[in-house]
Amino acid sequence: MRILGINCLNHDAAMAVVNDRDILWAAHAERYSKIKNDHYLNQAIVDEALTYGPFDRVVYYEKPWNKKQRQFSAGQYDEVFQLGNLPSQHLKQFGIKIDEYVDHHHSHAAGSYYTSPFSDAIVMCVDAIGEWETMTVWRARGKRMEKLNSLRYPHSIGLLYSAFTQRCGLKPCEEEYILMGMSAYGKPRYRDAIYRELIDLRTYKLKRNLHRGLGDWMPGVDPMDLAASIQKVTEELLLRLWNWSTGFIPRGQRAVSRYGTSRNICYGGGVALNCVANAVLMNQGVYDDCWIMPNPGDAGSSLGCIAASQQKHLKWRTPFLGHNIEGEYPVDALIKELTENKMVGVASGRAEFGPRALGNRSLLADPRGPEIKDTVNRIKRRQEFRPFAPAILEEDVHEYFAMPKGVKRAPYMQYTAAYTHGNDCPAILHCDGTSRVQTVNKTDNPGFYELLTQWKKRTGCPILLNTSLNIKGEPIVNDKADAKRFETKYNVRVL
Ligand SMILES: [Fe+2]
Repeated sequence: MRILGINCLNHDAAMAVVNDRDILWAAHAERYSKIKNDHYLNQAIVDEALTYGPFDRVVYYEKPWNKKQRQFSAGQYDEVFQLGNLPSQHLKQFGIKIDEYVDHHHSHAAGSYYTSPFSDAIVMCVDAIGEWETMTVWRARGKRMEKLNSLRYPHSIGLLYSAFTQRCGLKPCEEEYILMGMSAYGKPRYRDAIYRELIDLRTYKLKRNLHRGLGDWMPGVDPMDLAASIQKVTEELLLRLWNWSTGFIPRGQRAVSRYGTSRNICYGGGVALNCVANAVLMNQGVYDDCWIMPNPGDAGSSLGCIAASQQKHLKWRTPFLGHNIEGEYPVDALIKELTENKMVGVASGRAEFGPRALGNRSLLADPRGPEIKDTVNRIKRRQEFRPFAPAILEEDVHEYFAMPKGVKRAPYMQYTAAYTHGNDCPAILHCDGTSRVQTVNKTDNPGFYELLTQWKKRTGCPILLNTSLNIKGEPIVNDKADAKRFETKYNVRVL
């Protein structure tokens, strides 16, 4: 059974192909159209998907008519009465016909659980908005998934966070990660005001419909304080939910996972991209082990909807599922560039499926010394307050970082952790002394692992700065031509 999964007409269109339980390919439309957060599919991504066909079944990640009902109730009549926003219409130009539509949150939940190493888990999905549901909690055992509880539109933790994203001058449903970075610079001065005016901590109900934004709520105040306040409130809401969800684990039960005996949670939806909150949640210690798919937002649901349709575990091996640039990982040449110029691009192997560059489409740099952050920022031209992430050999991570409780490895940059090794790598430290860590081992990415091993041999440092390889305003590079354009524009070698 060869299945094509699709999500489109939202903020990050994507496609995935699964054959029985093998994930053959998965990619973001933006990487082919070069339009960041592209809502639409394009001929180039469809053509690459078709090389993995023909397909026995085509599955779509949500139910468009249910979504239209919700839009109707919200008064979004422009959306309701046009047919062009139906996926069946959009896909006509590519000759693709959808066989099955899956509920939005079922796609998130199935994508979380059926890619996990667990055979028994609580599954929690939190996002801004799909059809009606904005948060769901499930119990999963073996192949079975049972929904235990849900929250419905207009009440939504994700929508609340997105409203603050917009209030702080950023793009909602896209730039939440920037708001998260800003939060470390502020004080949660408006935490109480948020509970008083906007959301009930106990019921999660919004006191105002925030789908149309917050307007000029708290005019004139420091956006860093607003960011810190909403981050704090989000963490508190999620903590309460995590604690509550443990009530569904049968007393005394210790489920068995690949990592040993533990109580497991699978966590999905766009809110699971908040790596600051993820660290706070794990530090609670209520779950021993957590699986977050590296692409937990809607793009990952192109894979999730296939899992929901199949109702069985997929063989999760790697997030490197996209376009392939053939050739060996150029370890020696990368080391040479890093030694001589302190910075190098790498575009090798299959592209990452997810928002983070994990070593195959990365701009890498020597993290030591005070000047490297400015040098990389000259190319990235992004807000100075935003930190760069470190990639570190998995065996060294606990010597350099205080990882959140129960987090043994972090191959997908899903948690922040405090740096505990002095002041030797300032380029990868946020102002609060934390980093969004990526651990690398031989199985996850043999080439990148070898690079870090060689780098440590030469310098004694097991860390490289790892940021996404992209031209300003464009998505992460996908193919050789993109890599060449990057090289020419910034005069930085890409290997
Ligand atoms: Fe979603």
